[in-house]
Amino acid sequence: MQGISAFYVMELLQRAKELEREGRDVIHMEIGEPDFPTPKAVIDAGRALLRTGDVKYTAAAGLPELRACIARHYQDAYGVTLDPRRVFVTPGASGAFLLAFGISLNPGEQVMMADPCYPCNDNFVRLFNGHTHFVDVDAGSAYQLTAELIAKHWRSDSKGVLLASPSNPTGTLLGGNDFNRAIEQVHSLGGCFYSDEIYHGLVYDGRAASALESSDDVFVINSFSKYFGMTGWRVGWLVVPDDFIEAAEKLAQNIFISTPTHSQYAALASFTPENMAELERRRLEFKERRDFLYENLLKLGFKIACKPEGAFYVYADCSAFTDDSFEFARQLLEQEGVAVTPGRDFGHYLADRHIRFAYTASVDRMASALKRLERFLCR
Ligand SMILES: Cc1ncc(COP(=O)(O)O)c(C=O)c1O
Repeated sequence: MQGISAFYVMELLQRAKELEREGRDVIHMEIGEPDFPTPKAVIDAGRALLRTGDVKYTAAAGLPELRACIARHYQDAYGVTLDPRRVFVTPGASGAFLLAFGISLNPGEQVMMADPCYPCNDNFVRLFNGHTHFVDVDAGSAYQLTAELIAKHWRSDSKGVLLASPSNPTGTLLGGNDFNRAIEQVHSLGGCFYSDEIYHGLVYDGRAASALESSDDVFVINSFSKYFGMTGWRVGWLVVPDDFIEAAEKLAQNIFISTPTHSQYAALASFTPENMAELERRRLEFKERRDFLYENLLKLGFKIACKPEGAFYVYADCSAFTDDSFEFARQLLEQEGVAVTPGRDFGHYLADRHIRFAYTASVDRMASALKRLERFLCR
């Protein structure tokens, strides 16, 4: 536990709530979840199951219908044929990570990942007595681990590489053939490739390829949380290589028994054409917000080395204004009621000069936030 870090943003969030209780208006751009409600058809499907009262455990790997639907989604979205037996429904991507590292990591082995990245990754590895090997990344590689970086930093005790494209906190992709090259590089070194695809669907420029387009020998982590708008329902999935099906089944039975049943029935309603059309409308709104926020942060003097192409974050360099982004975020909240996430939540590399803005607020709310931010910077 001593090595497991807390989220700094939770401190800010707690303070934001206190300010709200005192009657202050706080604009939330710190939270990594869509502000849109869960789609109605999905809620209705969850509710219908609850009404039957038959809310029992499902099979540990998930409802067979849901596993089949997810496998079909790979055919529709990526042109990949996937055996549903390789799909494990989990409590969010978080559960998928636990399962993936639990079945593949031995104590002492290292997983390579980018700094900055999603902070829980390191802690999932620690739970299985593995070690994280952070590699500093910057705009030169779109904040991603490329085949060259992987080859350069690979060590004798490296077990594998975790890549998230689009990335949290930068929203950048490892595009074109570079993604495929990174996978080939890991395999040529004898490692496991873990692909966090939780922001797939929320892509505004270019295309996010699934690791399954390149190889069957990959672990793919995904979730209904972000694109599908179901954060609190806690349902995600893991795709495992054939050789790991039995191990995943055994470990899932032990650590989860099953994923919440009503959430699985709700998730089943996600893939209808009507719901996918609703999600597309939301994606277009996120794109509009991305463009609005990106342009306006640049105008204010923030540096954004790579225009984010996906997710719902802008990772902005605030070194023109401060060399302590945590203090900057704290003061911005106190003085102007705008909540953002300091870079140190995502790693160490140049963390004190970065802030993550989440565009999980409407354009109107963000326009107010930008006015407040401008006033703050002029003080
Ligand atoms: C990159 C990334 N991976 C995984 C997760 C975990 O998501 P969940 O467990 O809600 O599916 C998050 C949540 O913010 C994330 O940003």
